Amino acid sequence: MQEQLNTVFASYQGEKNELIPVLQDVQEEIGYLPEEAMREVARFVRMPEAKVFGVATFYARFHLEPRGEHIIRLCCGTACHVRGAAKIADKIKTMLDVDVGGTTEDMNYTYEEVACIGACGLAPVMTIDDKTFGKLDPDKTEKTIKKFGEDSAEGGEA
Ligand code: FES
Repeated sequence: MQEQLNTVFASYQGEKNELIPVLQDVQEEIGYLPEEAMREVARFVRMPEAKVFGVATFYARFHLEPRGEHIIRLCCGTACHVRGAAKIADKIKTMLDVDVGGTTEDMNYTYEEVACIGACGLAPVMTIDDKTFGKLDPDKTEKTIKKFGEDSAEGGEA
């Protein structure tokens, strides 16, 4: 991990105002922000650890736990909610044995719930990485995730 941190730190001066971009780059490099990495960042930008931890927990874009290879985001905005997002959520949680924000044991998927993603016409909607799947019902959701898993296991485009 130290090597990854050094790579990131090499592009910065170690100033306080670099905290957020440094955290972003560290997350990109390691995949999330382990506690030890945040301590090193605090030392690097010469800020108290508590302040750095505070910033990392405040912004939703920062992840303090390892995340899965693929991110499933279920829209829980109004249109999707009205059209049954809760049933889709149940299906995903049962199927993958995860809770919101959780990651499957095999580290394949992290499951998140988000506000309207602007595809209300397709409600209820979920995304897997950068792909959008709409007009879902529990059955279609299960098939979609299975198919996505098979396609990515083959190394092809999902
Ligand atoms: S409410 Fe789900 S896409 Fe808008």
